[in-house]
Amino acid sequence: MSSPTVETCAPLAVLGHDVLVPLASGAKVGYAALDYAASSPALQRVWDDVAAYAPYYGSVHRGAGYLSQLSTDLFEQSRRTVAEFLGLREGDQVVFTRATTDSLNLLAGAVPAGTRVFAFETEHHASLLPWAHAGLDVTYLRAPRSRAEAVAALDTALAGAPEGPKLLCVTGASNVTGELWPVAELTAAAHRHGARVVLDAAQLAPHHRVSVRELDVDWIAFSGHKIYAPFGAGVLAGRADWLDAAEPYLAGGGATRTVAREASGPVAVEWHTGPARHEAGSPNVIGAYAIASACRALTEAGWDALEAREQQLVARLKAGLAEIPQVKVLNLFGAAEDPQSVTQVGVLSFVVRGWNSSHFSAALSAEYGIGVRDGLFCAHPLVRTLLGDEEAAPSECGAPEPSLPGERSLNAIRVSFGAGTPDEHIDRFLAAVRELVTDGAAWNYRNEGGRCVATVQSDRGRREG
Ligand SMILES: Cc1ncc(COP(=O)(O)O)c(C=O)c1O
Repeated sequence: MSSPTVETCAPLAVLGHDVLVPLASGAKVGYAALDYAASSPALQRVWDDVAAYAPYYGSVHRGAGYLSQLSTDLFEQSRRTVAEFLGLREGDQVVFTRATTDSLNLLAGAVPAGTRVFAFETEHHASLLPWAHAGLDVTYLRAPRSRAEAVAALDTALAGAPEGPKLLCVTGASNVTGELWPVAELTAAAHRHGARVVLDAAQLAPHHRVSVRELDVDWIAFSGHKIYAPFGAGVLAGRADWLDAAEPYLAGGGATRTVAREASGPVAVEWHTGPARHEAGSPNVIGAYAIASACRALTEAGWDALEAREQQLVARLKAGLAEIPQVKVLNLFGAAEDPQSVTQVGVLSFVVRGWNSSHFSAALSAEYGIGVRDGLFCAHPLVRTLLGDEEAAPSECGAPEPSLPGERSLNAIRVSFGAGTPDEHIDRFLAAVRELVTDGAAWNYRNEGGRCVATVQSDRGRREG
């Protein structure tokens, strides 16, 4: 595959920056990956580390052979690397899971009976839904319109809550607006009322230094595939007591200390405590190793430099979109009081007046080689709140997501990026948005099997040849 000459000043090399994709016209263009919030590209460093380890890959924990022992050491070393990356406290555990969804479902099954969970309705479904699904009582807090309102709403809800164990689940950075949540303040309020906190860091950890110790949260969850390590692993880390007291997440080998036959019938099981308790089955050693490799790469690149670079791109993107009157950027908290403060990561959603979001996203792909996402981003209540007064633009594409009777149902467009994003991707995106808004699409689009595809050239396309 030939490589286009892409001027990149991305701080970290990622795979795929030289991939060419076809446009509706038949021409090929370098792919602009602007959907990091769903899955980021793999870091070259992660890929290289995994490739270097692959010949030495062996079964973990149970093998007597050299490669098994080496793999076991790497797996356990990966746990320590993640613990350091997250700034864990003495005694905290790192449990390897499949991803954030898995981590939060694990915790939902591990909290003491009778725990009342508090969650803002603005959460991603992965942090909104596992609690009720596990049979716990959940208090859903309405969408706050400022950070201070979020803290006050939690404070009030907890003050009125009955005695007993309580847990707040909160996101560090929104997967829709990219906005940072006041995690330290919410945690202080929760702890004042005796509630524990789990931080959904799926969108925070890839963009921002995170310290469990400094934020004082009790647990943290994140996904490898959003932090440049797409090998099917995730993390739940934090306090050991509730995890050790809980039934194992999965029943099976590796989670057991002993399994004895009993004369009367059923077997007697003694389960491990520690991470193994919730890691039954053969562990995903490559996934864990890949996450550890990403943690090392991000740490070595330096968070100050990574964040400064990302904030440059955020500012460039927001300034560019602000010049296009038809574009409405979606925000929950509104403008920052201190314009110098960092208020969001490289995730931003918007709608374009007069356009259907699916149609717009399809044109970005088919006419400019830009990969964004349209939809409700697995945060339906939040996106519906943010889109409350928008008008749906008719289109053959983008059947709106189903809604309750009387509820408006629309889509938004999300652009997201990170440590592998060159300036050119943001510049191409802004130029494309400007051109589509001003001149219209060069192709017509039709819904084919749920996908919005280019069919024939539009009047503009024919005019321009
Ligand atoms: C904020 C947030 N939490 C949780 C998740 C779920 O992550 P995963 O799909 O990796 O389990 C996502 C995924 O988009 C997310 O953005």
